[in-house]
Amino acid sequence: MAALGEELLTTVNRLQDLVFNTIGNDSLDLPQIVVVGSQSSGKSSVLENIVGRDFLPRGAGIVTRRPLVLQLINVPTDEAIEPHTPSSVSSQREWAEFHHIPGRQYYDFTEVRKEIENETARIAGNNKGINRQPINLKIYSPHVLSLTLVDLPGLTKVPIGDQPTDIEKQTRTLILEYIAKPNSIILAVSPANVDLVNSEALKLSRQVDAQGRRTIGVLTKLDLMDHGTNALDILSGRVYPLKLGFIGVVNRSQQDIMGNKSLQDALSAEQEFFRHHQAYRNMAHRCGTQFLAKSLNTTLMGHIRERLPDIKARLNTLMGQTQQELASYGDMHFSGKEHRGSLILQLMTKFAGSFISSIDGTSS
Ligand code: GDP
Ligand code: NA
Ligand code: MG
Repeated sequence: MAALGEELLTTVNRLQDLVFNTIGNDSLDLPQIVVVGSQSSGKSSVLENIVGRDFLPRGAGIVTRRPLVLQLINVPTDEAIEPHTPSSVSSQREWAEFHHIPGRQYYDFTEVRKEIENETARIAGNNKGINRQPINLKIYSPHVLSLTLVDLPGLTKVPIGDQPTDIEKQTRTLILEYIAKPNSIILAVSPANVDLVNSEALKLSRQVDAQGRRTIGVLTKLDLMDHGTNALDILSGRVYPLKLGFIGVVNRSQQDIMGNKSLQDALSAEQEFFRHHQAYRNMAHRCGTQFLAKSLNTTLMGHIRERLPDIKARLNTLMGQTQQELASYGDMHFSGKEHRGSLILQLMTKFAGSFISSIDGTSS
């Protein structure tokens, strides 16, 4: 991906951040990727693979119980080190920050997972209940593409633990709320060892994206298909029409997780799987996590371009409001708010600049 495209995404991410911190999350409706599917279809595993870090609670059963809004922010290697980073950790070029814990940088991703678990339990309780209040997490890294991803609780049919009797309806409503937004790209995760006709992910996405224009199909658990069967038909788009197609992946199994198989080993094993598989080796370059991450980034770029007039209009409204607000302060100095106001101005200018460069064809 060319630098300018990356820069545009970074700018969009920063805008989203700024808007979240000033006037709430939804006012700009910036594009984001939302992961949907039934429980244990592999949603959290897919996300973790895309990020390239072990940090998400995942496993058999209901693990994801609050929406996780995950902003990946690509930082160039030389800028990745914050000026205030203590020298003992200055070799760490990747860190995470939670919105609910301002100012704290996490360099240990095991701690990130623990905090997601704690924060989930804090709001959603300890016993399988779900809650619609999102956890906001940012990951800064030179190894990620700038993307905003949303991990959601999966659909379950039968209430267990603290779950209310209408748990399915509640989860469905929550998921639909995220994917109904026209600026959402839906990552519809279906396990390959279950008939695609029964895919909850596709049933949900069809409700809000009937034409299959902004849905990417992800087929997990290809390694768990019955011997002698394969998913070539689905992956070639002959079974279910999606404009953005289906991408097959192999995540870590429960056994891999128990045995602490590293993510790097898992990604290599995934590549080997596709390269050597009778059915998939001719399409191996269009399979797997890496290809998925690249496709997501390209799709997101295209999506931002399409929605730019709308984003600009919203941004203009926001600018107007900010200017009015600044004017209303008169002679008083609220440096924090003034600072934010000028930041919005700066970002908007930068945003417009990056966008013009990218549609001029200087970017892929
Ligand atoms: P989620 O509930 O949709 O977020 O699913 P998780 O990512 O938590 O995964 C559920 C379970 O399925 C875990 O035990 C994973 O190890 C396992 N799993 C996910 N994807 C795959 C895959 O591609 N192959 C295999 N063998 N197991 C997988
Ligand atoms: Na799970
Ligand atoms: Mg999950």
